Amino acid sequence: SSMNQDQKKKAAAIAAIEYVTTGSIVGVGTGSTVNFFIDALAKLKHDIVGVVSSSDASTARLKKHGITVFDLNEVNALDIYVDGADEITEYKHMIKGGGAALTREKIVAAVANTFICIIDDTKLVSMLGKFPLPVEVIPLARSYVAREIVKLGGDPMYRQGIVTDNGNHILDVYNLEILDPPGLEATLNQIVGVVTNGLFAHRGADIVLTGTHDGVKKA
Ligand code: A5P
Repeated sequence: SSMNQDQKKKAAAIAAIEYVTTGSIVGVGTGSTVNFFIDALAKLKHDIVGVVSSSDASTARLKKHGITVFDLNEVNALDIYVDGADEITEYKHMIKGGGAALTREKIVAAVANTFICIIDDTKLVSMLGKFPLPVEVIPLARSYVAREIVKLGGDPMYRQGIVTDNGNHILDVYNLEILDPPGLEATLNQIVGVVTNGLFAHRGADIVLTGTHDGVKKA
């Protein structure tokens, strides 16, 4: 069969629906793959208690479907968090944040017991870093953080015209060969003014559902 990228994303998103349990609150990520998940979740909206959302964009789509959206501070635990990725390795380390929602995504993911990553097979890589690594910074610290990132060997680019849901800026870091994702994640977090970086390695995915020409593969 010949499936296009959207069909693969949709197949992965629908496979994630099987992990949604009755009476639960579901953590929902951000992006075009998650949008397929949100649309499928709408059919279960009377079986779940509601969701926690990782972005204003996802919240708007969820509410349009009449799905109850809770503030993360109102919930004590989440069984699952379902989100996409920009790149992922066989070790389930990810780069996220192409949609600038990385900080809320990382926070909601931290609360969830199981991170279910839904992707099409173009997201699988042997080494992270071809996709520029997003780093959310406090606006005042942008140039300082950029200089520190240059010392680490990266080429930071200010994502012009983008303000995150938290009122901050994004640096996209090019030309990194990320041999040690958990190490680089920690190093970047030590730079004063960095809010979050898009490496999800300390807390990677637990389950990866990949849409391929031969159906959805689970890892
Ligand atoms: C949002 O900030 C990102 O982390 C998304 O999870 C990522 O960009 C995947 O998006 P797509 O599903 O649109 O590829």
